[in-house]
Amino acid sequence: MADREHRREIEAGIEQDFSRQMSYADYLRLDVLLSAQRPLSDPPQHDELLFIVQHQTSELWLKLMVHELRSARDLLSRDDLAQALKRLARVKHIQHTLTDQWAVLATLTPSEYAEIRPFLATSSGFQSAQYREVEFLLGNKDADMVKVFAHDPATRDELDRLLHEPSLYDEFLAYLSRRGFAVPADRLDRDFSQPYRSSPALVDVFAGVYAEPTAHWGVYETCEELVDVEDNFQEWRFRHLQVVQRTIGHKTGTGGSSGVDFLRRALDLTFFPELYEVRTRIG
Ligand code: HEM
Repeated sequence: MADREHRREIEAGIEQDFSRQMSYADYLRLDVLLSAQRPLSDPPQHDELLFIVQHQTSELWLKLMVHELRSARDLLSRDDLAQALKRLARVKHIQHTLTDQWAVLATLTPSEYAEIRPFLATSSGFQSAQYREVEFLLGNKDADMVKVFAHDPATRDELDRLLHEPSLYDEFLAYLSRRGFAVPADRLDRDFSQPYRSSPALVDVFAGVYAEPTAHWGVYETCEELVDVEDNFQEWRFRHLQVVQRTIGHKTGTGGSSGVDFLRRALDLTFFPELYEVRTRIG
């Protein structure tokens, strides 16, 4: 065992010539993906690559999340609760990955960030279109967010479409109504581009569901899945806030906000208000 060579033979059947067939890099467009990291610091700062990769990987996961949330919403509109729940299960894992990922960026010290800060100029995660798409899909509608993309008509139009479409929560309420639950009419027939307002009558509906879980299992399970998704979203917001605080303290952000104070106010935003309000009524 001691003089065994530490080497693995490549099996005869393993593909090695890709001059005429598709390789891993071809399929994944790694030429495009891995050439998209273009640090701007001059002289080059070691930590800028971390900053870029953390943001780019977040955007990739956000892309998948948008894909899954759109699908979950469309499945609900077709009364396919089981498949919609499958989509949400994946969304929750993506959220955990995004939240865990903060640990990597937390290794960036304030002094290291200060070296790259000038090269970021006015760019900020606040301008992430996919983050707004996730918020809109979940139900946090805000027309002002669309204005940020006036310089990019294709992105602006896409976001504006989502603003006016029903969110995942709107589709869940429509599903409940089709199932005979007394969802108030003004929560079903409304201008979806407007921020959602909590409805006491809907809290009553959920109180009925939570009073008899077994009688309404699918709906009850969906309510809890939605609460998981909101919980996870808040965890991401909180970790972002903590990383921002340890990196820039109370300095203003590159996007022009007050920084930590502005981000902290987002913790008061809720996607599914009645699902939290009903908890006070249980038991
Ligand atoms: C050291 C790293 C980071 C710092 C110092 C930082 C700082 C900030 C600040 C100060 C804001 C408020 C807007 C502004 O004035 O710029 C903000 C917003 C935001 N950032 Fe970051 N950020 C960091 C990393 C990230 C990463 C890795 C992401 C991942 C995509 C991200 C996504 C966002 C998003 C989505 C917002 C908007 C949040 C909201 O509207 O509530 N940030 N960031």
